[in-house]
Amino acid sequence: IVVVYKIKVMNSCLQKNAAQKSSDQIVFLSDVVKGLGQPQKKLHSKYFYDENGDRLFQKIMQMPEYYLTDCELDIFENKTAQLADFILGNENPFDLIELGAGDALKSAHLLKYLSVAGVNFTYMPIDISGNILSVLDQNLKQQIPDLDVKLLEGDYFKMLQRAMDVSDRRKVLLFLGGNIGNMDADEAYSFCCELHGKLNKGDLLITGFDLKKNPHTILNAYNDPHGLTASFNLNLLARINRELDGDFNICKFQHYQTYDPVSGACKSYLVSLKNQTVSVGEHSFLFDENELIDMEISQKYEQKDIDKLAANSGFRIIGQIADSKNWFVNSVWHAV
Ligand code: AVJ
Repeated sequence: IVVVYKIKVMNSCLQKNAAQKSSDQIVFLSDVVKGLGQPQKKLHSKYFYDENGDRLFQKIMQMPEYYLTDCELDIFENKTAQLADFILGNENPFDLIELGAGDALKSAHLLKYLSVAGVNFTYMPIDISGNILSVLDQNLKQQIPDLDVKLLEGDYFKMLQRAMDVSDRRKVLLFLGGNIGNMDADEAYSFCCELHGKLNKGDLLITGFDLKKNPHTILNAYNDPHGLTASFNLNLLARINRELDGDFNICKFQHYQTYDPVSGACKSYLVSLKNQTVSVGEHSFLFDENELIDMEISQKYEQKDIDKLAANSGFRIIGQIADSKNWFVNSVWHAV
């Protein structure tokens, strides 16, 4: 009976029903209205990833300037055994949960390695985008047909809680791609504390950190000459138009990127090119010429920042695997 119940709960998280979808839209609207109502207007970069945004981000990852993906791919392709050694504790089987899995381009190498080695585990990718999850599911079915996969569409913590509820196996969490960079220092700290609160002693967290490096290299990755990062930012305005009945004139906004090599904050803004009023559903917002919308932070790290973050949030660093250029690191943490 217990087994049947678990399967039912699992299946119910695979697909969103209409009620969940409309409650997501209510949260999206309230976040947008709150964000644009502040003196410093702000939109949350987690909303970049609708179908169009997913496509743009995949194109960004293919740009030569966007080094992050290649670096982490280098680790997952060429240092797979090292990663697997950290993951394979003595307590098997386990659940391998990936926060913000996207198309699982990198983790697929690890999944294949573990699967060929006959390791007993379930892969649970969590992503806010149901669209990208179905892409991922199709890819994995082709590449690794035997893999046990449970898709979890939604917010990291809600879905992580579900994963904890449906299985009491040891957890190994992957948080890759430098996604932690989308949080400022305070947010990253509370995020890691919250993760620690959900995990059990002995569970693992593997996080990808983009490291500080030549500031030109970093700025070029985001201020790209192809205009893809600009489109990626502007697409959120188009999404608001489509989904929340907005009337942003996309041509009247311009992408502006900054990188501060001292703090490591790489930030993107949209600049209003004239005085204008924009409405979103029932709400309207005044933009002055040159007023900014704060869109995204991509924080870059130094080793001492990583050490501090782990220690402060209740983890012990048990290993670090960097790419061959030493531009990016996957840090392996043990929940204590
Ligand atoms: C997906 C958050 C890792 O911040 O580098 C890429 C998103 N933004 N180009 C990043 C992004 C602009 C990306 N992350």
